[in-house]
Amino acid sequence: MPKILVTGSSGLIGSEVVIHFASIGWTVHGVDNNQRAVFFGPLGDTRWNQQRLVETLGTAFVHHEIDIRDRAGVLSMVSEIKPDAIVHTAAQPSHDHAAAIPFDDFDVNAVGTLNLLEACRQSCPDSPFVHMSTNKVYGDRPNTIALKELETRWEYDDPVFADGIDETFSIDQSKHSLFGASKVAGDVMVQEYGRYFGMPTCCLRGGCLTGPNHSGVELHGFLSYLVRCNLEGREYKVFGYKGKQVRDNIHSHDVARFIEDFIAAPRVAEVYNIGGGRANSVSILEAFSLVEGFTGRKQIHTYMQENRLGDHICYISNLAKMRSHYPTWDITLSLGETIRQIVESHQSRH
Ligand SMILES: NC(=O)c1ccc[n+]([C@@H]2O[C@H](COP(=O)([O-])OP(=O)(O)OC[C@H]3O[C@@H](n4cnc5c(N)ncnc54)[C@H](O)[C@@H]3O)[C@@H](O)[C@H]2O)c1
Repeated sequence: MPKILVTGSSGLIGSEVVIHFASIGWTVHGVDNNQRAVFFGPLGDTRWNQQRLVETLGTAFVHHEIDIRDRAGVLSMVSEIKPDAIVHTAAQPSHDHAAAIPFDDFDVNAVGTLNLLEACRQSCPDSPFVHMSTNKVYGDRPNTIALKELETRWEYDDPVFADGIDETFSIDQSKHSLFGASKVAGDVMVQEYGRYFGMPTCCLRGGCLTGPNHSGVELHGFLSYLVRCNLEGREYKVFGYKGKQVRDNIHSHDVARFIEDFIAAPRVAEVYNIGGGRANSVSILEAFSLVEGFTGRKQIHTYMQENRLGDHICYISNLAKMRSHYPTWDITLSLGETIRQIVESHQSRH
């Protein structure tokens, strides 16, 4: 049986990838130390998800309680497993939280990624290496695109971006947040292990990745946290831009499906923007209405004038490159279905 190593296996994307590859016959080695609970407190705790994987998958899943910052631990684990593919999703994932923990943020996002790349180069250089990057590598440059204000959302006012932002967009000379900068370091390093050493690496620059298995918190996990607030009657804070800021949302299952396609036909040093695209884009105001439609509960929210530093006003991923390199892949889960699943999951979890 082929073996895959998934870091961040108790998180949203990691756990989806674990389930997906186990379901197509792979043995899955997961790496997660529940660092999300350290970053975000009890709401970010991912042990429930780890438990779910262990209970559902039995011997097809092996959990490794390793911190990816532990270089010696990572080197020896990878040399022992010699995985046939690696999916790296472990991260400090919050744009805003990074400034409070700059060393932890960089050590996890940049150095942790290097630890894994080097371990793979030494032990399994031909195995595809998929790295979850982020659209924050573009910094706040997307905010320089001309915009128009519609009733419930901001929209691009430049036909060049009608289908969204593609991979040729510059990552240079803009405000990234410390998180964006540490992710740029990881992203460029992943590309370099492809270009310099010829390893089959790829960076997936995520828009909003979402799904029922997110442990959403205020600082990370937009739709998951919004739904949780709605169901628990908590106040959701909107930060600036009149609540009309737009995110494109992709269900973690569609991310896992793309990863499967890449691993089946890997390329070297590739970069893809991966999000829900225009069809799955939504503003915060629009998300309130959609969620209210599923739960029947009014969203309690407050408005803060100040936007988050460097936050995107309108971000939509252009999926053309993904579709052209992997023509059998496309989005299969609509925004409505995704929100329905998130609501259902929170109702059963809490
Ligand atoms: N969710 C999104 O909207 C989004 C958007 C763009 C990019 N991304 C990227 O996708 C990846 C996955 O995001 P997610 O939403 O699944 O995050 P997540 O926080 O749900 O999952 C990450 C997992 O990694 C684990 N982890 C963190 N640091 C670790 C360490 N040092 N050692 C071992 N495990 C560690 C955490 O405990 C957590 O379970 C991240 O790289 C993130 O930056 C996510």
